[in-house]
Amino acid sequence: SDCYAVVGNPIGHSLSPRIHALFAEQTRQDLVYEARLSDPEHFARDVRAWFGNGLRGLNVTVPFKEDAFRLVDLHTQRAERAGAVNTIWAEADGRLTGDNTDGTGFLRDLTGRLGVDPARNSILILGAGGAARGLLEPLLRGRPARMVVANRTRAKAETLVAAFADLAGDAALSSSGLDDIPPGPYDLVVNATAAGLSASRPELPAGLLAPSSALAYDLVYGPGARPFLDWAREQGAEQVSDGLGMLVEQAAEAFAIWRGARPDTRPVFETLRRDIV
Ligand code: ATR
Repeated sequence: SDCYAVVGNPIGHSLSPRIHALFAEQTRQDLVYEARLSDPEHFARDVRAWFGNGLRGLNVTVPFKEDAFRLVDLHTQRAERAGAVNTIWAEADGRLTGDNTDGTGFLRDLTGRLGVDPARNSILILGAGGAARGLLEPLLRGRPARMVVANRTRAKAETLVAAFADLAGDAALSSSGLDDIPPGPYDLVVNATAAGLSASRPELPAGLLAPSSALAYDLVYGPGARPFLDWAREQGAEQVSDGLGMLVEQAAEAFAIWRGARPDTRPVFETLRRDIV
């Protein structure tokens, strides 16, 4: 059967093999999906060798999404924008194409499962790394009135905002540090910092969240998201969510590209949610 994989470091706890196995079962596709470890020195060689040995598709996770961007021969438009690649496949002539399904996955989780209109008036994104980059294009296409990107290292937020200024349209797009975030209220606050990966959260002022209407979303899933989401609840968020839904949606997007069949994400999300709290 056709073989697919996810590469990362560490990779042992990746949920992707389980998600893709559930998708395959649901859509009656005959495929194998494995977790594979690599390291920065051998990443390019490993990936080329795997595709040379018949691998049909590869997902890329932390810390290789930017290495993957540099490695592939062709980029989809959204991967070009994001500067990061999480999904790779081989063209008929052997060239590798890199795509990025993270932003689309995030938007699908917002509009589908959470029932949120992305044309939120006012959006605050915390963080300016690889995870934040993927969100800007889909969120700006929702035509918000205002978007602020706030980062601990202010210069990185400035650079990121400058790279997306052409997509801002009528939206007021600006950057700040974490200690001088323009006053709220924000309707949507997304934590795209890596703070949750070490079970902490960015230090934030009070009063950012729109009272009883705001959604707070952490891209991290499971217990790591708790510090930020607990803070958001205390601050009066109406709805909070970790990143499990986005994880399932970005996987579904990759699966659909590779297999031409779009899985129903809801039962897969519910199965995983029972294990991950
Ligand atoms: P990722 O691919 O997860 O975005 P990254 O590119 O290394 O990883 O970016 C990590 C992001 O989390 C950055 O925005 C980082 O802020 P700096 O640019 O100032 O380093 C942010 N970050 C990490 N730990 C943080 C913490 N404890 N508090 C606030 N921001 C944090």
